[in-house]
Amino acid sequence: MDLGTKYLGLDLKSPLVASASPLNRHLDNLKQLQDYGAGAVVLPSMFEEQIVREQELLDQLIEHGAESFGEALSYFPAQTAYAFDTSDHLNLVEKAAKELDIPLIASLNGVTPSGWVDYARDIESAGAAAIELNVFFVPSDPALSGREVERRYSDIVSAVTSAVGIPVAVKIGPYFSSPAHMAGELVAAGAKGLVMFNRFYEPDIDPMSLSVETSLELSHAYEMRLPLLWIGVLAGRINASLAATTGVDRAEDVVKYLLAGADVVMTTSSLLRHGLGHMEVLSDGLWDWLSSRGLDGPGAIRGTLSHAKIDNPEAYERANYIKVLQGFGA
Ligand SMILES: Cc1cc2nc3c(=O)[nH]c(=O)nc-3n(C[C@H](O)[C@H](O)[C@H](O)COP(=O)(O)O)c2cc1C
Repeated sequence: MDLGTKYLGLDLKSPLVASASPLNRHLDNLKQLQDYGAGAVVLPSMFEEQIVREQELLDQLIEHGAESFGEALSYFPAQTAYAFDTSDHLNLVEKAAKELDIPLIASLNGVTPSGWVDYARDIESAGAAAIELNVFFVPSDPALSGREVERRYSDIVSAVTSAVGIPVAVKIGPYFSSPAHMAGELVAAGAKGLVMFNRFYEPDIDPMSLSVETSLELSHAYEMRLPLLWIGVLAGRINASLAATTGVDRAEDVVKYLLAGADVVMTTSSLLRHGLGHMEVLSDGLWDWLSSRGLDGPGAIRGTLSHAKIDNPEAYERANYIKVLQGFGA
């Protein structure tokens, strides 16, 4: 049996990928994930805001001299606690790319197509095999139309993809009028892969303290349903790799995403919940599931339950929807 998989044109020894999280900030953890069977690892994101902030500070320094550095710092609002600064980040990319045998994917997280995208070139020079571009913003301005939001995504993707020669995957959320069409637009803008889906930041309100709570919950298996649907819709019908992210906790969850058509299956919450060794549990479980059915690798099941295998997908989804509503409790 061979778990080998192609993702973004890269050869992976397994379809299991450790997605962006604070765990992947440490080289030792990345090495352990490799030993536990990960096919690739994604570093935590470097944020546009941080790159821009560092650039602005540098400009201030050049313009006004080193003596005004302290003053320059105070021009900026209190800094958010970012995972690392750009030099720590590039050092990690360089070291990890050298010391790991599996592809290292660096993550960039941005919302505009200008200025900061040059940093993608630094990531490429540091040795990353690919970039995962996470575009995340809440379009809270009522004057901003859906079309403008979509154009912004495409502009950012095309700015980053034209800056580098390594493949770029785009991590998106599900909230487009037509996610499948949007996926095509991102591929036309240069994306070689889509990572589905970003979990949206969803604040809560504490009625006791009258404050907005912004804590991050680990995912649950039921959250797999939405990415399963859209990966199933896109598999075999789009010229890009598909990565599933959200909700994986057991090897069966990995199998489900492969059946829907994912090229790779990512996990973060399960590793935070059970420890890095859980990568091996998933890997062994996938191996057992395939070998117990006499299958020689993930390619034997990939996309077998995708829309590409159905004659009339729209009618099929509509029929299932009606069946689910009318069959409840029957
Ligand atoms: C603590 C934490 C930190 C994360 N940091 C990042 C990040 O820096 N960049 C990013 O694109 N996604 C980040 N994510 C999202 C994960 O990569 C992943 O897409 C998401 O958690 C869904 O996958 P899961 O269900 O396997 O957790 C983070 C998730 C968690 C829980």
